[in-house]
Amino acid sequence: MDGHGRTLLLLQIFFCFFVFASTDETKQVKRVSQKEIEDCSQVQCPGPLTYYDDVGCTPVYKNKGDCCACKYNCDHLNARSRNKCYVRRNSYEFGERLRPEDKNPCNVGCFCKNGTNSGRFVCAIVDCYHGPIDTGCYMKRNISQCCPGPLTCPKNESEIPKCVVDGVTYKDGEFFIPKNEPRKRCTCREGYTGQNIKPFCITPSTTCSTDLYHSQDIAKKCIPIYYADQNPATNCSSSWRCQNANDTVIPNPSGSPSCGEDCPGKKRYDLQIR
Ligand SMILES: *[C@@H]1O[C@H](CO)[C@@H](O)[C@H](O)[C@H]1NC(C)=O
Ligand SMILES: *[C@@H]1O[C@H](CO)[C@@H](O)[C@H](O)[C@H]1NC(C)=O
Ligand SMILES: *[C@@H]1O[C@H](CO)[C@@H](O)[C@H](O)[C@H]1NC(C)=O
Ligand SMILES: *[C@@H]1O[C@H](CO)[C@@H](O)[C@H](O)[C@H]1NC(C)=O
Ligand SMILES: *[C@@H]1O[C@H](CO)[C@@H](O)[C@H](O)[C@H]1NC(C)=O
Repeated sequence: MDGHGRTLLLLQIFFCFFVFASTDETKQVKRVSQKEIEDCSQVQCPGPLTYYDDVGCTPVYKNKGDCCACKYNCDHLNARSRNKCYVRRNSYEFGERLRPEDKNPCNVGCFCKNGTNSGRFVCAIVDCYHGPIDTGCYMKRNISQCCPGPLTCPKNESEIPKCVVDGVTYKDGEFFIPKNEPRKRCTCREGYTGQNIKPFCITPSTTCSTDLYHSQDIAKKCIPIYYADQNPATNCSSSWRCQNANDTVIPNPSGSPSCGEDCPGKKRYDLQIR
């Protein structure tokens, strides 16, 4: 969604520029603009972006057209009631089932329930177990469904549909994330021509289902933490760190940090994994 927003903004900028540019340099202008669009989609912005996006924080940009937000506004999290459940900015009463617009294929049987510090979702545990797959056989896949299947055993290897994406060849049923559309989840299937649309791709409502599984961490103002080999911009947090009695709270002398400024006492914690 954000990627699209950026591209749109740049396109708008391009169109403005185009209107005011002299007509004899059209090709030049177009090439520069195309380069700009690609550059922005390639930019790796810092921060736990999947988390911000998952819980519906609003990016704040220093300058219009910037690729990266300088900070995110998550004030809505402070206004959450302990007697409701939330997915992004949508609220649920206790007992209410997860609505289709907030649902990803593997979020099955989820409903809102009263929890210890806040409302929380309880979902069914999905187990996509299938027996061993014979050589020459594979699972087809409908990306709108949680589990792969049905099992397919083509008579001839050359019958298997193939998809070329970002220079990589995928076979029917194989999963991929397009490089320039990191929020999409796709599967190779017959008829793919490079368009990352249904039935090949879906854009899940959230990347990590953070609000479904970590509402209590969010309510306790815990922070998502990541392993050293994870990219917080694209990966789901591996665990959460809550304030404990041994922590020293260092208030910011100037109130809330201004755009682009680091919090005082910012630290990188390296976890030992055993
Ligand atoms: C939810 O549970 C808490 C105690 O854990 C209780 O105080 C509160 O009244 C409950 N809320 C509702 C709406 O049942
Ligand atoms: C994929 O699954 C969805 C959801 O169950 C269904 O509506 C759709 O028809 C399926 N698509 C194909 C091409 O099988
Ligand atoms: C598989 O199909 C290709 C092309 O249709 C054909 O050339 C080849 O002989 C077939 N192989 C077998 C083992 O049937
Ligand atoms: C991080 O995300 C990438 C791309 O989505 C994925 O391939 C990789 O397995 C993830 N790594 C971890 C450690 O979760
Ligand atoms: C706080 O520090 C003490 C002493 O070092 C330690 O025993 C205790 O486990 C720590 N508590 C937490 C929550 O980290």
